[in-house]
Amino acid sequence: MAAQPPPLPLTSDSDFYLPADAFFSTASKEALTYDDVSLATNYSDILPKQSRLEMALSPSLTLQLPIISADMDTVTEADMAIAMALNGGLGLIHYNMSEKMQIKQVARVKNHVHGLIQDPITVRPDQAIGDVLTLIEDKDFNFRTFPVVNEQGVLVGLLSGRVVKPRYANHSVISAMSPRSEVFTIRESDIAGDPVKAADHFFSAHMGIHKLLVVDDQDRLRGLFTLSDIERITEEASSHTRPARDSVFRLLCGAAISPPRNASGELDRERILGHVSQLIEEGLDVVAVSTAHGHSLGVGETVKLLRSQFPELTIIAGNVTSGEGVEFLAKAGANAIKVGQGPGSICTTRIVAGVGIPQLTALYVASKAAIKHGVAILADGGINKSGDMVKALTLADAVICGGLLAGCKEAPGKIIEINGKLFKEYRGMGSLEAMKAGSAARYGHEKKDSNRKIAAEGVEALKEVSGSIDQTLGQMAGGIQSGMGYLGAKDLKELKQKARYIRVSAAGQREAAPHDVIEIKTSKDKD
Ligand code: XMP
Repeated sequence: MAAQPPPLPLTSDSDFYLPADAFFSTASKEALTYDDVSLATNYSDILPKQSRLEMALSPSLTLQLPIISADMDTVTEADMAIAMALNGGLGLIHYNMSEKMQIKQVARVKNHVHGLIQDPITVRPDQAIGDVLTLIEDKDFNFRTFPVVNEQGVLVGLLSGRVVKPRYANHSVISAMSPRSEVFTIRESDIAGDPVKAADHFFSAHMGIHKLLVVDDQDRLRGLFTLSDIERITEEASSHTRPARDSVFRLLCGAAISPPRNASGELDRERILGHVSQLIEEGLDVVAVSTAHGHSLGVGETVKLLRSQFPELTIIAGNVTSGEGVEFLAKAGANAIKVGQGPGSICTTRIVAGVGIPQLTALYVASKAAIKHGVAILADGGINKSGDMVKALTLADAVICGGLLAGCKEAPGKIIEINGKLFKEYRGMGSLEAMKAGSAARYGHEKKDSNRKIAAEGVEALKEVSGSIDQTLGQMAGGIQSGMGYLGAKDLKELKQKARYIRVSAAGQREAAPHDVIEIKTSKDKD
């Protein structure tokens, strides 16, 4: 028998650094997560700041930054959603609150800083200032100036924030407002084309005026410009941070729901449709059907129901970690699918239930089905640095973060001081306390169950206070762009195409972080 020739030595990069299909098929017997791999660099003619971070969550909805804040009760309420959208991302308002409160939270985001506020909140001349104060408190408005209209919607005056005070509570709006003759207005027909430019001209020509009302031919109120909104928008146009806005310049907002059941244990269709309709009336852009096990009957039925009633609505659903799960939710009508079971920093699902897949392998498997079915996938959980985001985005379309954002000032909850250090509470939605507050359905339990012994799948924890969302997302966006510069990727599509992976040993992981030095300033201390 002829002797076999010796195997050729491995000589080129491609023998070591493999694109996704080749890499994950060789690693198929083992599940990997972010720290298990590193990305190889490529020739690049891209400077980090030239790389583009837009991603399409659905055919009708684009984010400017592929980062979403988690629908958790210690992460996303209105303040967080506003900050996320102002930075180009998206906040998903959690559902551990009454439906009425969630609608109110969405309204707050959608009413925040518009170019033209198309549906300004108005008051009637015969109301008392006290009624207006109650309205502000009930709806949690952070503005106090209101156009005054009669029953036909005709403008009759402007109520200035200067008189909306408890000491004037008994006065009527009509006695306190500036009359119509003193209110600055512009005709709807005069702003067609470029409304922001028209408003900008007006404010430059009228020193000290901060509000401009838009009226139609019959003097009915059609909108409102504020100077601060216009200034912010003109500044945005020249800055790198582009907010995520809808077609009428309002910030994008998402909200999560779980599939509620009625007394006989069936999906409560009426309740779901009623609630989501109200959210949409307030301007909701994205609904997330959020559960721990998305490849399940209830989630599939809920997504189908929403898709049949709201054909244009962007729907996120999850969570799954398999291609079959992605296919199931895509066929039900979801646009974007959350991938992640147990990677979260507060999750104990893998310990408690013994299920879940390390995140990078889960993303690879899910991405194959996502490409086939034309849906986006969202890497949900386990991300605690921008390098993880770069790795996630080689397979996923955006990332969802909880712990990374929970210490920011925009996250709900009070700051706690322990031994001179400042913390905020961060808890899993599957922790006992969160389930008692409402999230039990997410983990397949009923709310009343949470009073007896059920297995929690999350912990209650603390996060060190970490500044603002602007600072945190600035660092994250910079890190993602840096990774794209190394890979020579001008946009997120190219990042996927150009990624090449290699396994990292335990020593390699140690080498990746600062070592053999005494750190005197961490990257966190920079600002
Ligand atoms: P990070 O790592 O960003 O993870 O803090 C946030 C994600 O974790 C998921 N989540 C949970 N998973 N038990 C779990 O197993 C829980 O109690 C829990 N709460 C949240 C969720 O997907 C979130 O976006």
